[in-house]
Amino acid sequence: MSEIILGIESSCDDTSAAVLQGEYLLSNVMASQEVHRKYGGVVPELASRAHQQNILPVVNQAIADAGISLSDIDAIAYTRGPGLLGSLLVGTSFAKGLAISLDKPMVDVNHLQGHILSHFIKQKGKEEPSPAFPFLALLVSGGHSQIVRVDDYLHFEVLGKTIDDAVGEAFDKCAKLLDLGYPGGPVVDRLAKLGDPSRFAFAKPQISGFDYSFSGVKTSLLYFLRDNIAQNENFIQENINDICASFQRTLIDVLMNKLVKAAKATGIKDIVIGGGVSANSELRQRFVEEGVKRGWRTFVPEFKFTTDNAAMIAIAGLYKFRAGLTCGLDASPVSRALDFSK
Ligand code: KG4
Ligand code: ZN
Repeated sequence: MSEIILGIESSCDDTSAAVLQGEYLLSNVMASQEVHRKYGGVVPELASRAHQQNILPVVNQAIADAGISLSDIDAIAYTRGPGLLGSLLVGTSFAKGLAISLDKPMVDVNHLQGHILSHFIKQKGKEEPSPAFPFLALLVSGGHSQIVRVDDYLHFEVLGKTIDDAVGEAFDKCAKLLDLGYPGGPVVDRLAKLGDPSRFAFAKPQISGFDYSFSGVKTSLLYFLRDNIAQNENFIQENINDICASFQRTLIDVLMNKLVKAAKATGIKDIVIGGGVSANSELRQRFVEEGVKRGWRTFVPEFKFTTDNAAMIAIAGLYKFRAGLTCGLDASPVSRALDFSK
């Protein structure tokens, strides 16, 4: 019988618990926090409190959905970081309490490794190929934009990363400037489908190597709106779809150009995307088209695995557990980006 892993994710504003048996998903339960919407962004204090309320029912539900009992669990995998410290503390403390009471080992997981390794989660009746090592990952979320070389389940090398904003932040800040609410990425995505992506041009960063920069694109949008609103106070309302389409096109061009560059430089042809922004319809389409053109094998996550979820924490935990990499009860959460080699 394969190992049973309970995964717990609480790094930002989603409380999630999942159960895997080997690589097979038995359950994946998520509670999103609506409370942040009216503030236009995640409020850390409120996130911690909501995790505290959600975590027990979410874990209980994951155990029930999986059809197992707590004593069947072989290890508890939890997100150690990066993320909001108060949020991480809830998942970490819960995992510790459970580990002590069940006398089971704990595995600390890097949230970013989870996003990448989510491509190895298997679902009964949906057998699909997994990427082969070494592969490249374009990891794009609200907090990160990275190109990562993955040599095996435990070894990751960051080839490039953003030097300022993450691409998800650029989506969210764009939406904020356009008064589209939070989180903005999905709304920009929806409106962009109705607009002309070649109508407006925004500044593209000129950064060497495989690093990204998104703060300049955002500033370019800010000045563009300011100048046009000075001429026509209804400029945003009259052009909202074209603004979203053009801004999104700029971000996707930037993401894809560096990914193509990294693929050429490494010669690697198995490529995955992951993280919240990998839900973006234009990115998914462009990524697959680029793959066809360049002979890549592309791996696009199911929508439920793009957003933060505990199934990805459980799969990353499974591989660490198999390698004997459990952690002690003294492990503490880390808010900053964890070194991939740790
Ligand atoms: O991975 P994630 O759920 O949380 C972090 O770890 O950051 O990513 C959240 C980010 C937000 O910035 C959100 O606006 C963005 O993912 N996002 C999208 C889409 N869906 C979510 N961005 C563009 N298009 C989407 N469809
Ligand atoms: Zn994430």
